[in-house]
Amino acid sequence: MLTALVTGGAGFIGANFILLSRKNQWLNVINLDKLTYASNLENLAELQGDRNYHFVQGDIGNVELVSYLLNKYQPDAIINFAAESHVDRSIFSPQIFIQTNVVGTFNLLEAARFYLQKLSPQKQQKFRFLHVSTDEVYGSLQLHESAFREDTAYAPNSPYSASKAAADHFVRAYYHTYGLPTLTTNSSNNYGMRQFPEKLIPLTILNALDCKSLPIYGDGKNIRDWLYVIDHCEAIYLVLQNGKLGENYNIGGLNEQTNLTVVKKICAIIDELAPKSNFCHSSLITFVPDRPGHDRRYAIDCSKIRRDLGWHPQENFDSGLRKTVQWYLDNSDWVNQVRSGAYVNWLQQNYGNRNAK
Ligand code: NAD
Ligand code: DAU
Repeated sequence: MLTALVTGGAGFIGANFILLSRKNQWLNVINLDKLTYASNLENLAELQGDRNYHFVQGDIGNVELVSYLLNKYQPDAIINFAAESHVDRSIFSPQIFIQTNVVGTFNLLEAARFYLQKLSPQKQQKFRFLHVSTDEVYGSLQLHESAFREDTAYAPNSPYSASKAAADHFVRAYYHTYGLPTLTTNSSNNYGMRQFPEKLIPLTILNALDCKSLPIYGDGKNIRDWLYVIDHCEAIYLVLQNGKLGENYNIGGLNEQTNLTVVKKICAIIDELAPKSNFCHSSLITFVPDRPGHDRRYAIDCSKIRRDLGWHPQENFDSGLRKTVQWYLDNSDWVNQVRSGAYVNWLQQNYGNRNAK
């Protein structure tokens, strides 16, 4: 079995990826995570005692630490999930996005480049640097425009997406300049279990369960292409195994929905799974002032990964959403733990001055 240094593995997608990797015996894993507000080691509690899983707290930008880990564990791959990932936070505090997403990824590439040089030709041949990126680097689509393809020009509109775009460019440059065997995945919006409740779907679920208002930015007609996190993890593993070096792979859910539809669907599921008498959770929907620079629509054309690697999303949105709501209902300890003081401060910062329109 291959060994991978997985970064950001205590966050939402990284943790789901590591759990699947261990369950399906895909990979032995060293998880390097800085443990920011978005992380949760509880996500990985079930791996306690697993001799093929190691956790290290640290920063991807720390070349010494990363080099030490690479030399010690001799991984066959680096899979880079680590990032600051929330667009709204990037609007308030862009600097950490540059630090982690751009400088951090650059330092990780440097460490990988030096490590690769020391490997035997056989190990060099096998080594992969897989960088997990986003569809937001392609910018915003109008309703009539066709979905993002791998050759769509980058046009990021938020500090978050600009930082991810910059990182993607460095990954590309390291392939062309140094022959680092890179792969980049650009996925659409993920949803599912273990997502930090700053993002639309878990925020809506938890607010609705508490009968708090459900904030919808602008007119609620912005469109995202929702992808179940397990489908995303399976795609990443396929790209790691069979992806063509130096290339990008778009990964999407084939599931475009307006934000208003998503929130109404969640309300209907909660009406059924956690009913309150004579109360429709959709009555909590509140239109609030828009996110600055809010991208109107994302849509992913994932025909390349389908054609070349045989992947397509398995989960149906209604059943995926239902499973997700059920997970938050079943995991109240996890929910209570992440809703700490820092989370309350964030809600105040982002929503405090957004009075209902
Ligand atoms: P997340 O915010 O839930 O988790 C990020 C993790 O990275 C956290 O555990 C955090 O502690 C860690 N981290 C942050 N800075 C670090 C640093 N300097 N060094 C080491 N670890 C650090 O993010 P997520 O939603 O799981 O996203 C994972 C990756 O996937 C990100 O690169 C993101 O840009 C990308 N992505 C996310 C989505 C989505 O819908 N969530 C969609 C497409 C792409
Ligand atoms: O497209 C992939 C991206 O999806 C990832 O790269 C990002 O890491 C991830 O955070 C996500 O970005 P979005 O900005 O699309 O996700 P978010 O959940 O923050 O918002 C989804 C949509 O819902 C967006 O149009 C903004 C809107 N929204 C969000 C929040 C938090 C609201 O209307 N109200 C809210 O309170």
